[in-house]
Amino acid sequence: MQHKKNQTLGEFIIENQDSFQYSSGELSKLINAIRLAAKVVNHEVNKAGLVDILGKAGETNIQGEDQQKLDVFANEKFINTLANREIVCGIASEEEDDFITINSNDERHQNKYVVLIDPLDGSSNVDVNVSVGTIFSIYRRVTPVGTPVTLEDFLQPGNQQVAAGYVVYGTSTMLVYTTGDGVNGFTLNPAIGTFYLSHPNMQFPEDGTIYSVNEGKYRHFHQGVKDYIKYCQEEVGDRPYTSRYIGSLVSDFHRNMIKGGIYMYPKSSVTQEGKLRLLYECNPMAFLAEQANGLATGGRTRIMDIKPTELHQRVPFFCGSKNMVNKLQEFLEKYH
Ligand code: AHG
Ligand code: MN
Ligand code: MN
Ligand code: MN
Repeated sequence: MQHKKNQTLGEFIIENQDSFQYSSGELSKLINAIRLAAKVVNHEVNKAGLVDILGKAGETNIQGEDQQKLDVFANEKFINTLANREIVCGIASEEEDDFITINSNDERHQNKYVVLIDPLDGSSNVDVNVSVGTIFSIYRRVTPVGTPVTLEDFLQPGNQQVAAGYVVYGTSTMLVYTTGDGVNGFTLNPAIGTFYLSHPNMQFPEDGTIYSVNEGKYRHFHQGVKDYIKYCQEEVGDRPYTSRYIGSLVSDFHRNMIKGGIYMYPKSSVTQEGKLRLLYECNPMAFLAEQANGLATGGRTRIMDIKPTELHQRVPFFCGSKNMVNKLQEFLEKYH
């Protein structure tokens, strides 16, 4: 894969399309559409404090969460951008009750890909001017082209992903993605609306000193997780580790990948399955993590080997630097 600094994302997509495992033209178009939607959402996110877009949209999504206005805006932008370009046959979103079928009645449409998105991740941070993100995950459909997509096309294990990535709307806006050949990060120059390759071949350091978990829920965690958190806080060697938790998975993951760290969203005595969604959050992040020399587990099982049973399924999620995830696993296994 080509890694020329200052290369634009557009140039990078064209130069590397031969290395895509599958029909390269379509996947390139798809990444291009995501790039476009990301710029539109970025523009809106950046002026969130200026216009009357803050606050809640007044509806509740299938997860029982209040939908923020930007949640709805980002959801519409990503769906419309993808749907209008004849590149995907189906879309599933955290913000939609059911999956969306595209061009099901038109035999000319031979689109092979389905996309799953978390249009705005960390949306509770919008009101307080803290980083948010978008997460996407791409699969080839398993049912025949030219027929309407079915639930089966979306309920594939993460190990079948052909591409995944995120956009982080932070101090800079970045698009980070993988097509199964490493992870590359592109930073937006907002003056001209162009993403540049700024972080080629991103890798989690094997070791890290940051742990990210909502410690307010500590008393509800499984004993193995509690013991690992205590281990992180011990005064030994390079410990105590630093605790950093933004509350936007994208931003917490992004920092940990660059600096070395572990992200944890365990199940608890209150939420038996954890909080994060397997299809829109955990699988794409797990694919990125493994492509960047990191690990992602649900506790006992590799995240990407879990066979999904429903669209909005939640799973416990532990992800980050290899040695840290392995250490956590030692603690978890003590109580199995
Ligand atoms: P979303 O905004 O897409 O619903 O996701 C929120 C997720 C994730 O981004 C974050 O890591 C986690 O929820 C934070 O949850 P807690 O507030 O329970 O820590
Ligand atoms: Mn949400
Ligand atoms: Mn999310
Ligand atoms: Mn979301």
